[in-house]
Amino acid sequence: MTDNQNPHFIECSEHYENTSTFVSRVDIFRFRKAPGHYLDWLKEQSPFEKADKILDLGCGPALLWKKFPDLLKQNHQLFLTDRSSNMLFHARNHTGELKAERFFLRNAMEQLCFKDQQFDAVLAHMLLYHATDIDQTLREITRVLKPHAWLSTTTFASHSEDIIWKTVHAIEPEIPPYSEILSPFSAENAPSQLKRHFSSLKTTNYQTGFSCPYPEIWADFICSFPNVELRQLKSGFRQKLIHKLEKLIDQHGTLPYQTEMVHYLCQQPRTRILHEAAL
Ligand SMILES: C[S@@+](CC[C@H](N)C(=O)[O-])C[C@H]1O[C@@H](n2cnc3c(N)ncnc32)[C@H](O)[C@@H]1O
Repeated sequence: MTDNQNPHFIECSEHYENTSTFVSRVDIFRFRKAPGHYLDWLKEQSPFEKADKILDLGCGPALLWKKFPDLLKQNHQLFLTDRSSNMLFHARNHTGELKAERFFLRNAMEQLCFKDQQFDAVLAHMLLYHATDIDQTLREITRVLKPHAWLSTTTFASHSEDIIWKTVHAIEPEIPPYSEILSPFSAENAPSQLKRHFSSLKTTNYQTGFSCPYPEIWADFICSFPNVELRQLKSGFRQKLIHKLEKLIDQHGTLPYQTEMVHYLCQQPRTRILHEAAL
């Protein structure tokens, strides 16, 4: 796709070639205050037993399947796609214990390489805000879904990183807030975008803070965000960040930071019905 429809689009492909930054962003969940990991919550949101053929779009390192290899059975087929070949390499390694048949494809979500009405389910977790064109991507998703199939997708509330970006901006005012990356598809606007393509939407939330007293771990977490990593940071940024984090942690015991993830289970694809009417 050459035509970039999304005015907030920030190119992150280089960022995701390095799998370890994404993995260190997820690592902070071991300090979570919520009783369960977000992956435990995520697994409960979708009726996997009702889907034989599943497409995991922008699968990344396949952390859900790594944690729950028994979620799918032998009769399932799982297609894992990502734009990053390095992510697919890790996804392959992390899905070795799955009983389901697995296929790995390098494919951009804006132009899917699948025939119409192939899948019982599509997963698109922490992904759609990276689309160059959200409407085109959702049209592609509804095109490959069967009539009674579902989409499971997650994003974040963009207010959830305030304390982090205030701290980062005090050192480097030019780093854009993460809300700019999220803005094409954040909890604030995702429902209206999804309702254009699906008649039924079920929303659930996961919120947590982190009791992490280690400034270095917070610094790894913060530096793993694409908007920070993609900037050529002046030398000394990390040290200055750690210094500010130490002060905040002395005051609060951790960072007073909350993340809010939102899941949408989307059913009854509309675009498919429009396609039929157009025939
Ligand atoms: C934040 S990670 C999420 C990974 C995974 N879905 C998860 O929930 O753990 C975003 C992933 O989307 C991939 N990605 C970004 N833009 C993409 C695009 N246009 N088409 C396909 N994959 C893309 C990245 O390479 C990365 O693996």
